[in-house]
Formats: sequence, C-alpha cells, structure tokens
Amino acid sequence: MVSHSGLLTVMERAARKAAPRLRRDFGEVQNLQVSRKGPADFVSMADKRCEDTLVEELKKARPDWGFLLEEGGEIKGNPDKPRWIIDPLDGTTNFLHGIPHFAISIAVEEPRPGGRPEVTSGIVYQPITDESFWAEKGRGAWVQSQRLRVSSRRELPDALIATGIPFLGHGDFAQWSRIFGAVAPEVAGIRRFGSAALDLAWVAAGRFDAFWESDLKPWDVAAGVLLVREAGGFVTDFRGGDRAMERNEFLAANDVLHSKLHKLVAGALR
Ligand code: IPD
Ligand code: CA
Ligand code: CA
Repeated sequence: MVSHSGLLTVMERAARKAAPRLRRDFGEVQNLQVSRKGPADFVSMADKRCEDTLVEELKKARPDWGFLLEEGGEIKGNPDKPRWIIDPLDGTTNFLHGIPHFAISIAVEEPRPGGRPEVTSGIVYQPITDESFWAEKGRGAWVQSQRLRVSSRRELPDALIATGIPFLGHGDFAQWSRIFGAVAPEVAGIRRFGSAALDLAWVAAGRFDAFWESDLKPWDVAAGVLLVREAGGFVTDFRGGDRAMERNEFLAANDVLHSKLHKLVAGALR
C-alpha cells in the first residue's frame, strides 16, 4: 500500500470532480449518434467544460502555477513554480463515436534552473473504468494503490504493441507504414485504441508490451511517459536516443523489447 503525496491528491481530486459531468456527457453522446447533425459541437463543449473544471480546481490548490492546456493554450504563472500540463479528454474521437475509451491526463512540470523542465507527477484517469493511473518521480507508478510494472515479456512474437496511426493529414503516414511493415510481421498483434495517454498508462500496467507514435502533443504524453518510466520501462525516440520530446517520437517498452524494437524501427527508417 502507498498513499500519494498531497499534490497527487489535488490532481486526483480535480480529475474526479470533472469526471461525473464527462460521464454524463458521454451518455448523451451515445444518444446523439443517430441525429443528423451528429455530436461534434456537443463534444467540443464537453471537452472545454472538463478543462474549465480542472483549471478551476487546480487553481484553487496552487494559485500561482501556470498551465499548458490543450483547449485554452498557455496560462502564464510564476516562472519559478511548476506548471500543469493538461489534456481534459484524450481519446476525443472515441468519445465522439460512443466508444468508452478516453481519459483525463494531468501532469506537473517543474522548472530546472539552467536545464530542461521535468515532469515529476502525472495522472491518467479513465472515467468509465474509474481507474486512476498515477506516478511520482522516484516513487513508482500505481493504479489506485497497486504498484505497476511494465510487462516482463522478452520475445517479440509474444508482444502486443500499441500505436497511433496518422490521420486527417496529421503526422507522417509514410514513416508510420515503414515502421508498421517492419514490426507487424514480428509481433503477436498491433492495436490502435485512440488515446495516447491510455496507451502509455497501459504499457506501464503491462497490458501492452510496447507503444510507438510520433507527432504527439505535450499534453498527450506528459503524464504517460512518467508512468512508463516509473514502472521500470524505457521511453526514447525512434533511434533509441533520449530525445523523445524534442524529436516528437515515442517508443516505449521494457528494456529487452525496447532494444529489439528500436533496432527494427531504426532499420525501417534508414
Ligand atoms: C489524440 C489521441 C490519439 C493520438 C492523437 C491525439 P485527442 O488526442 O491521443 O491516440 O493518436 O494524435 O491527438 O485529440 O483525442 O486529445
Ligand atoms: Ca490528446
Ligand atoms: Ca484532447
């Protein structure tokens, strides 16, 4: 058993405050599927409403911290203090289609004098399953009060791999297909579930053995990358280097699968 810090309590409370409305809105979206106009405007309102609740709750607890928000952009705070990085609804396309696989992602990024800021706490909360995946730097990754470890599978033919496929003109489809062409024939399966935050949380939980995607945004991955690392996994760029954020390439897995996969991926991209 572990109890999380006061800060994590603040983050979880904010997510749980926003979740009931998101669940109600999701129920409403399921009814709207058959309407001619479709639920798109309704969903962007639900998304915004969720973000507003998160900001309101977090501001109450840490009034001088800034925000990086998917919907609202940047809100400046005291530059010497941490800032929140938030995706109020990761998995919007699922939500819009009545598919119950989406999450709220909240991370804390701390400034490092003279260096790159660092994410030190993160939570990925899944309102439908009520699972709260959380991690704090140096204190491990957890779901509720259960410790998370990345999977211990070592062989590619046993590995189930998650990815994100470029869509609607986003991302580099040719690069994604080269990687897919190299990886798919070697592994047990590939999944595209539509929430990068949950993909990473599920790698941390050992449900997926690995994950790759590029062209993501900081709010998609900030909490999830910390979860994987605190669960004992590796997250690198596609060449196995430590520039995942800068190159906007994410390859996550346990150590053994990571080294096998990054060779396959690097080979495909040569
Ligand atoms: C998306 C999801 C998806 C990923 C997309 C993201 P959104 O976030 O994380 O899995 O493939 O690139 O934009 O739009 O649902 O918040
Ligand atoms: Ca997202
Ligand atoms: Ca989103």
